[in-house]
Amino acid sequence: MAFRGAAWALFAATLLWKLKRRSSRGFCAAAFVASLHFLLPPIVHEVLLLVCSSVLVGVAHRGCELLPVENRAVLVTGEARRWSQVRHGPQVRHGPERCWSQVRHGPQVRHGPEQLTCLHQGCDSGFGHELARRLSQVGVLVFAGVLDAHGAGAQRLRAGTSEKLQVLQLDVTDDRQIEAAHRYICTQVNDTGLWGLVNNAGILQCPVDAEIQPMKTLLDYLDVNFLGAVKMSQVFLPLLRRSRGRIINMSSLAGAVPVPLFAAYGASKAALAIYSEVMRLELSAWGVRVSLVQPSGFRTNIFGASDDISRHGDQLLATVSSEVREDYGHAYISSLPGVLIRMSQQSAADLSPVVDAMYHALLSRRPAPLYTPGQMAWLLPFLRRCCPSAVFDSITMKLLNLADHQPAGIQS
Ligand SMILES: NC(=O)c1ccc[n+]([C@@H]2O[C@H](COP(=O)([O-])OP(=O)(O)OC[C@H]3O[C@@H](n4cnc5c(N)ncnc54)[C@H](OP(=O)(O)O)[C@@H]3O)[C@@H](O)[C@H]2O)c1
Repeated sequence: MAFRGAAWALFAATLLWKLKRRSSRGFCAAAFVASLHFLLPPIVHEVLLLVCSSVLVGVAHRGCELLPVENRAVLVTGEARRWSQVRHGPQVRHGPERCWSQVRHGPQVRHGPEQLTCLHQGCDSGFGHELARRLSQVGVLVFAGVLDAHGAGAQRLRAGTSEKLQVLQLDVTDDRQIEAAHRYICTQVNDTGLWGLVNNAGILQCPVDAEIQPMKTLLDYLDVNFLGAVKMSQVFLPLLRRSRGRIINMSSLAGAVPVPLFAAYGASKAALAIYSEVMRLELSAWGVRVSLVQPSGFRTNIFGASDDISRHGDQLLATVSSEVREDYGHAYISSLPGVLIRMSQQSAADLSPVVDAMYHALLSRRPAPLYTPGQMAWLLPFLRRCCPSAVFDSITMKLLNLADHQPAGIQS
């Protein structure tokens, strides 16, 4: 009896874990094994449950393995199966899955690890900054795009790391800066191509009800959070295809579930998420892998300095119509910037879950299509898919509604 309980408990835990990792194949295999309960004698089935649990754990463990630094040249192919080729020297590739890109590009050039190159944008602070430092420390040549090449973040990058990290001026809303970065990187990588593009730049402004969202802010969100990544991907894809590299797009929990007061930010991230999913499907034929990182709740500069936050509040009050100001009320509108302060206070100070996810997406043998680091970043999208709308709406209003005032028109 105890054995049966232990086997089922372990199996259920493995199943939940697989579900969390979005491993649909693992989940289906586990569900199949569970259904054999009705066909097999209990003891055989319980042993099978234990075997199945350990196989599923083993498979996932291999999937997390990072390529050793000295062999990263092979990772450029994106094919763990070609590992043995390192020992036997360069070899022309075969196999139908690679034929299409070979027709266009010929057999792939192999690179040494010192030529593994990544371009990140939004490296002034936060996740992009941390990732750029970490990659350059393990020998990857990093082009760190910053919004302000003379700012404190850029200075820290220049001061703290090796020649493996080059800081580039790169505002993703400025086509000329994107072109200049592209020209420069072409001269640096020659015909080896670019291994990674991390579309990390993002902005978050004062949370506000969708009805009173200033149109200018909405356009700014789309420009930086969505179109910036689109433009960067389009410009750099020829280089990424050459090395069959990787794109990492930074979305957000707010792009996966409706978060009150974050309609515009969420819409820009949801646009990026679906764009990224489609790119992932289309580019797989070229051997380029695309991963989406969907974090939630990390304390970075995205929440802004307190000066910025109060400026947002003043701007908001100045842009709304007198009718809206009357219905929502001065007290409610001026309380909105405080949401950012509360969010920042409730967020995690340790950024490593996100940086680990980005690092894995860039350098692991099998990058995942989706990473969900942070508080409820996996759970809420899962509940949204499983729960009836009424149930999910009440969960959302309970967990995600950070407003501490009610609009005047609702109170009266
Ligand atoms: N922190 C979280 O909990 C969280 C949750 C979900 C998603 N995200 C996403 O994660 C990404 C990184 O954010 P973070 O939390 O690390 O915040 P962050 O420290 O503010 O990083 C965002 C970076 O993007 C830069 N940037 C802003 N506008 C840009 C532009 N037009 N061109 C190039 N760079 C620009 C910022 O520069 P300045 O510092 O000079 O403004 C900053 O370096 C963002 O896309 C964000 O939406 C964050």
